[in-house]
Amino acid sequence: MASRTLLLAVLGAATASELQIPLFSQQGQSAAGNSLGKPLINTDYLQASIKIENLLDRAKDLYKIAQTSEDEYSHPTRVIGSEGHARTLEYIYSALEGLGGYYTLSQQPFPAVLGKVYESRLVIGHEVPESASPMSLTPPTAHKQPVYGNLVLVANEGCDASDYPADVAGNVAFVLRGTCSFGTKSQLAGKVGAVAAVVYNYESGEVSGTLESPTPDHVATFGLSGKDAGPILKKLKAGEVIDSIAYIDAEVKQIQTTNIIAQTVEGDPDNCVMLGGHSDSVSEGPGINDDGSGSLTLLEVATQLTNFSVNNCVRFAWWAGEEEGLLGSDYYVDVLPEEENMKIRLFMDYDMMGSPNFAYQVYNATNAANPVGSEQLRDLYLDWYSAQGLNYTFIPFDGRSDYDAFIRNGIPGGGIATGAEGVKTKEEEAMFGGKAGDWYDPCYHQLCDDTGNVNSTAWLVNTKLVAHSVATFALSFDDFPERTKASTLGADEQPTKYHGHRLVL
Ligand SMILES: *[C@@H]1O[C@H](CO)[C@@H](O)[C@H](O)[C@H]1NC(C)=O
Ligand SMILES: *[C@@H]1O[C@H](CO)[C@@H](O)[C@H](O)[C@H]1NC(C)=O
Ligand SMILES: *[C@@H]1O[C@H](CO)[C@@H](O)[C@H](O)[C@H]1NC(C)=O
Ligand SMILES: *[C@@H]1O[C@H](CO)[C@@H](O)[C@H](O)[C@H]1NC(C)=O
Repeated sequence: MASRTLLLAVLGAATASELQIPLFSQQGQSAAGNSLGKPLINTDYLQASIKIENLLDRAKDLYKIAQTSEDEYSHPTRVIGSEGHARTLEYIYSALEGLGGYYTLSQQPFPAVLGKVYESRLVIGHEVPESASPMSLTPPTAHKQPVYGNLVLVANEGCDASDYPADVAGNVAFVLRGTCSFGTKSQLAGKVGAVAAVVYNYESGEVSGTLESPTPDHVATFGLSGKDAGPILKKLKAGEVIDSIAYIDAEVKQIQTTNIIAQTVEGDPDNCVMLGGHSDSVSEGPGINDDGSGSLTLLEVATQLTNFSVNNCVRFAWWAGEEEGLLGSDYYVDVLPEEENMKIRLFMDYDMMGSPNFAYQVYNATNAANPVGSEQLRDLYLDWYSAQGLNYTFIPFDGRSDYDAFIRNGIPGGGIATGAEGVKTKEEEAMFGGKAGDWYDPCYHQLCDDTGNVNSTAWLVNTKLVAHSVATFALSFDDFPERTKASTLGADEQPTKYHGHRLVL
């Protein structure tokens, strides 16, 4: 309870810049006495200390915490802004506070946008296309009422103001997906006076995207599958007039949420190994696998680490707002001064550690495409799985989780995962068990992501691997490349389709 009061006070009172100070200056702290008599970190001992019972007990706690949102959401969730998320932060923080001063703790509040769509409907001609879905962070239609207009085909991919014909004004812009972000298309459509916009796919599938940061020019925007768009396009190109009704009742709110950072008091503060998971869930469910599993893995490793002394600093992060578009990790890296950026030797992302129909997935983070060191980290995971006689697969390192800001700002990164809404293949069934044809996590972003939604074998294996990654770099960076300059990739040098779990373009 005490820490809850503290957390609320911090949220209410302090500005971000006041609170960043402890994140960056460890020099004032004395390590003396903290680890007196403790053995030097040893990967085998740290791995051996990881017990599945502890993880499962914490998962039960987290589910109860998610239930505290039921008044507001009528189901358990730990989405940012909810009671369940506030209590998740309190739970993590007070567990860390109980570790006898082994860590310097800090909370980093930051502004976040939270979008809620209450109702939506798109009618095209006489049809209600099944695939039409409102983009995340879309504004409502005017006065939260239905708007009427003809569908007006936008030229090219609608990335330039000149692509929008004058008669888009007062009508519904019909824009092809691609080249620039959904947010840009919505903004350009809004600027010329469209009453709504529909972004249709170049592939047959649906478009489940986000407009990202809201701007005053954004208009109510839907995504539409290529399959549904095909016949409509044909008619429009033949000169037919197609009318439509668009309706979105939605709200975009500015709120404040908080990252939690814990850094070992001991260890060289100029050479840190950093790791993170995200403390928040989506609004649809309690998020026990996504990313309760990663958050609790971190908490358990942080707890067991206190039995050891370390040579290098270890910094744990629990990000908030990951599900809204990696908000917490973006903010953290954005406000990091260059000399502090240079002290982070690498960042390891742990998001979804125990999917029920899991594969052992390693981000294919190569040095060719990422800051040098990323590939050494990737290979640490491969070597470990191989040594255990376990199979693994590579997955794209494409911006879907909190490593994104790090690698864009010159910090080597990587991580492991066990799979989200992807479909397990026959080969993977042979490699990992489970069921081909099903999603890796059949409850991904749903209400059923509860305590039954983790495979304890996978969760335990991966938590031991997380412990190994921490122990390896807490002991030594001797075999790890030196940091190079803070920024390598420009934000738009390597456009990725994702920034978080939703498509952005
Ligand atoms: C630390 O080591 C002691 C003695 O081996 C053990 O009892 C304890 O569970 C370990 N972990 C923590 C977090 O203290
Ligand atoms: C990993 O990424 C590199 C490019 O950085 C690519 O050449 C390679 O084919 C990828 N490997 C797998 C297994 O996806
Ligand atoms: C690894 O995958 C192969 C099939 O590719 C399978 O025969 C083997 O049993 C798997 N190993 C483990 C430990 O599951
Ligand atoms: C976890 O996965 C393994 C391998 O697919 C399976 O044998 C086991 O029954 C699963 N356990 C749970 C709790 O789902």
